[in-house]
Amino acid sequence: MGRIPPHIATVTTIILPIVCTQIHLLTKLIKIIKMNIIGTGRAHPSLTVANDMLSTFLDTSDEWITTRTGIKQRQLISHEKLEDLAAEACKNALQDAGISAEDLDFIICSNVVNEHITPSLSCIVQGMIGATCPCFDLNSACAGFIYALDIANSFFKSKSDINHILVVCAEEPTRMCDWQERSTCVLFGDGAGAAVLTRGDGVEAFSLSSFSSVEPLYQIRNLEKTPFITKKEFGGPLVMKGQDVFKLAVKSSLNDIQKVVEGNGLTYDDVDYYLLHQANIRIIETIRKSLHQDKVKFPHNIENYGNTSSASLPILLDELNRNQTLNCGDTIVLSAFGAGFTAGACLLKWSKN
Ligand code: UT7
Repeated sequence: MGRIPPHIATVTTIILPIVCTQIHLLTKLIKIIKMNIIGTGRAHPSLTVANDMLSTFLDTSDEWITTRTGIKQRQLISHEKLEDLAAEACKNALQDAGISAEDLDFIICSNVVNEHITPSLSCIVQGMIGATCPCFDLNSACAGFIYALDIANSFFKSKSDINHILVVCAEEPTRMCDWQERSTCVLFGDGAGAAVLTRGDGVEAFSLSSFSSVEPLYQIRNLEKTPFITKKEFGGPLVMKGQDVFKLAVKSSLNDIQKVVEGNGLTYDDVDYYLLHQANIRIIETIRKSLHQDKVKFPHNIENYGNTSSASLPILLDELNRNQTLNCGDTIVLSAFGAGFTAGACLLKWSKN
């Protein structure tokens, strides 16, 4: 047998192990740089509209809405502006986190519709709360909170100078509906929810999915006329094929939940709470039964607020945080879905006491 040339021996015995150690450390570091939720907040409009109020001007009933959706009432914008609700939710989250707006390094705002097309809602809210950090809006429909959390997590990994990120989801879907169309307007409510994030090891996994499917859920807005437009345009209220959305919601949510739970070596029993987008109690129940889990693991508030789009998850999270349902160390799965079709789930360990 011939002898191994000295330069090959040096590579295999000295350089290779060093490179492997470096890669191992880097992978470990990338895994360690994650985030915790350290504060939550929410804000609701003052007007409460119960199902019975809707049946005074719509061919509907409390019985139909309750049994088909689980909704008993919703909070609707009347005199308020959405930015006021967003700012209130942010201030509550900052107070809960024990930091001030000046400590923020980024604001991500999830929003589908508000009075301003430009500037972004995040820019308006940034000024209202007295922050000076960069900010932007994203529109991933009702899944916006999960998308915003994933982007925030990536910021913590890629930008060493970022220590606090505020995610705010502010939505007024009731302004998208035709209020003579009973199959859509009864479902929605308005509101805002926020969360403050910092570096930590609480958030463990994400699963995001999008596939283009416009037909089941869309709204086309009217743009200003120009002397040059020759095409026909049909702006109008929200259009929804409810049963299609229902099936897509269950399928994508189960898929995302499976990825973050089984993909991280856990069983469904290991999860303490599943917080799902509050769109329909029957969607929540279908998912719960598929996972063979107890009702207590699926807290809900759809009965009080209806579907508040991307705000629904941070609003629910804030309720559970403030009423001390969540305990430090609890394993939580967040899951949401919406127009697009967009969907996402997040696995995290609750790190607040
Ligand atoms: O963030 C995502 C947004 N959207 C969703 O998640 C929605 C997902 N889908 C759903 O939640 C359900 O499909 C709905 C709640 C929208 C509808 O429930 P459904 O059990 O799928 O009812 P359906 O659409 O099959 O309608 C059943 C009947 C229809 O009457 P006919 O054709 O059987 O005579 C509807 O016209 O219920 C009627 N209906 C109503 N009746 C009283 C629809 N809306 C109403 C209403 N009140 N508000």
